Amino acid sequence: MPTDGTPAPAATYDEPAGPQPEIPLIGGDVTEGVVRVGDTVRRPTGAHTPLVHALLRHLEDTGFAGAPRLLGIDAAGREVLTYVTGEVAARPRPAWIADEDRLASVGRLVRAYDDAAAGFTPPDGVRAPSGPTPPAEMPPAPPYPAELIGHMDLTPDNIVFRDGEAAVLIDFDLARPVSRVDEIHNAMLYWAPLGDPADADPPLRDVDVPRRCRVLADAYGLSGTDRGRLLEVAVLRARRAWFSMKRMAETEGGGWARMWHEGVGDRIKRREAWLERHGPSVEAALTAP
Ligand SMILES: Nc1ncnc2c1ncn2[C@@H]1O[C@H](COP(=O)(O)OP(=O)(O)O)[C@@H](O)[C@H]1O
Ligand SMILES: [Mg+2]
Repeated sequence: MPTDGTPAPAATYDEPAGPQPEIPLIGGDVTEGVVRVGDTVRRPTGAHTPLVHALLRHLEDTGFAGAPRLLGIDAAGREVLTYVTGEVAARPRPAWIADEDRLASVGRLVRAYDDAAAGFTPPDGVRAPSGPTPPAEMPPAPPYPAELIGHMDLTPDNIVFRDGEAAVLIDFDLARPVSRVDEIHNAMLYWAPLGDPADADPPLRDVDVPRRCRVLADAYGLSGTDRGRLLEVAVLRARRAWFSMKRMAETEGGGWARMWHEGVGDRIKRREAWLERHGPSVEAALTAP
């Protein structure tokens, strides 16, 4: 059943004969009830589901291999996706999360996804949920027009690696219209990572963050214009994130509330302070010849 009050979609998935065990999948921050059943994953549906399903069908139609396939809706109203085999940098984060070749492969996968998504037009009336009304004090979003339906949740838990390379993106629940610079910023947030090193997972505490931003930007093929916009986007996103995480914790509860109580708001403030001090180095690394 949807967890946010939207009507349950009709079942469309034919279960193979015989009962199969449900194995809980952990690792994500927010969605409760993600389970593996045989070669499939079952996830709750919600207001985001119509857009995500149209997007996944588009990706399948275009032959994009870097996303799970949508198999339908099961009798319990859950979405049914193909289970993706491979390796995820789950917690505790493995040492390989710092590897620059792996990092470059993330940039290439995000680029391939963005290029595939750029050809997707959501069906009439299907759009990303608007979410709770933002507080009046929340600063405006970056002023750059949306270019595609971005993934926008490019955390280590949502990227499956095969043979040492980022191969498949999972968890499209936050997909929404964004600019390319917003999307690559989202990848940098988790993979550079952008923020106070004290808040980084141990293998990412001593890395050269500006250099890693450059690796991601080069692998993505980020334009010169977007390189010049990245820092502005990072600062605005950090400022907005504090308000939106607080609002989600208040209105959605669950994993959002848990993250807030665990101090995600303070972490965002430390990220803003870090960007203030180190933003110029990031910008220099991105724009150097
Ligand atoms: N299609 C899939 N194939 C393989 N593993 C998956 C798939 N979907 C989810 N998982 C695993 O389950 C975890 C949580 O699922 P996810 O869809 O990311 O939920 P959340 O919204 O909580 O992040 C993932 O980090 C991953 O390890
Ligand atoms: Mg996830």
